[in-house]
Amino acid sequence: MESENATAIEFVDVSKRYDAVTAVENLNLEIPDGLITVFVGPSGCGKTTSLRMINRMVEPSEGRILIQGRDHREEPAFQLRRSMGYVMQQSGLMPHRTVADNIATVPRLNGVSARTSRHNALELMDTVGLDRGLSKRYPAQLSGGQAQRVGVARALAADSPILLMDEPFSAVDPVVRADLQRELVRLHETLKRTIVFVTHDIDEAVTLGHRVAVFGTGGKIEQFGSPEEILRQPANDFVASFVGHDRGTRRLTFAASDDLPIHPLDSPDRPWGEWELVLDDAGHPRGWRIADRHVPGGSLFTRGQSLREALDSVLSSPSGWGVAVDDDGVALGVLSSDDVMDATTRERLSRYGVGS
Ligand SMILES: Nc1ncnc2c1ncn2[C@@H]1O[C@H](COP(=O)(O)OP(=O)(O)OP(=O)(O)O)[C@@H](O)[C@H]1O
Ligand SMILES: [Mg+2]
Repeated sequence: MESENATAIEFVDVSKRYDAVTAVENLNLEIPDGLITVFVGPSGCGKTTSLRMINRMVEPSEGRILIQGRDHREEPAFQLRRSMGYVMQQSGLMPHRTVADNIATVPRLNGVSARTSRHNALELMDTVGLDRGLSKRYPAQLSGGQAQRVGVARALAADSPILLMDEPFSAVDPVVRADLQRELVRLHETLKRTIVFVTHDIDEAVTLGHRVAVFGTGGKIEQFGSPEEILRQPANDFVASFVGHDRGTRRLTFAASDDLPIHPLDSPDRPWGEWELVLDDAGHPRGWRIADRHVPGGSLFTRGQSLREALDSVLSSPSGWGVAVDDDGVALGVLSSDDVMDATTRERLSRYGVGS
């Protein structure tokens, strides 16, 4: 299980004070090796300060930080900074340098030849899903999503086992953001780096994190655990209110939908009544029709997704029937709201050890 991962980064009694302000107070935290750990919390609670203390962009006032068991002050600060990839909110690219040169910044500082670092930069563009044709562009000629991908590629170029990311996706629109999140999960699965990721968005935290640290005001950790633990058993009122009133639907993110029936579209009893699902020639859903009216909309449920997406497909459907598709987006059938509610009931009861 994940809990067996060794510790990559350890905060021991770490505090950071700025004159009157305590940004971080007595932080004790073990960040597991090879997983994504998310720092989440409201603005000003010390997330960025905690992240930056890891690579000594900010020096702790008290306490120690161990990287793979070694006090991180044993290494010169500049060397430590170069040895960890760092991605920030606004990609932080150098405007007068091309995409390829931006990506190659740290390898060049470390003495890698221009030729090799350029070659590596192009490969990293493939890795993060950027067209190599963009390599000679300048940052101002990129979209927000492309710029963030360059930021991630540049961080990967440091080729270190630890990647620090401070709200890297918060400045892009929700669709691009979801894309970048999926990409990060995929990248992590192939590269298996230790990633520390800062966000103030609880949804992003539970989507990406294997471990989530919820920061409260004054730089204290209110809870540290798996996303599921945080949603199921908030440690206190602060965490409960931070994860919010829609915690119930978030929790469904972890409930499998395997036993949810998908009713075939050619069911002779047509349980969906007057409604007609509209499909294009390739079998992709294109909304519903009723009384000669075409009604678009409804989110799709891709087979294998969680109960959360299943519930969403039912609630957002004009007909009240969720539409299930395969990985290629081809319609498989429909979900009934009764089945979805039954499944959520079973999920709820199973939490109290009551089976059915
Ligand atoms: N260089 C600094 N000088 C003085 N105070 C600072 C400095 N950096 C941070 N602080 C203060 O420390 C506290 C924590 O700041 P930090 O940037 O770590 O918060 P954050 O959780 O990252 O917030 P946000 O979500 O807004 O980015 C804040 O009260 C902030 O004003
Ligand atoms: Mg911050």
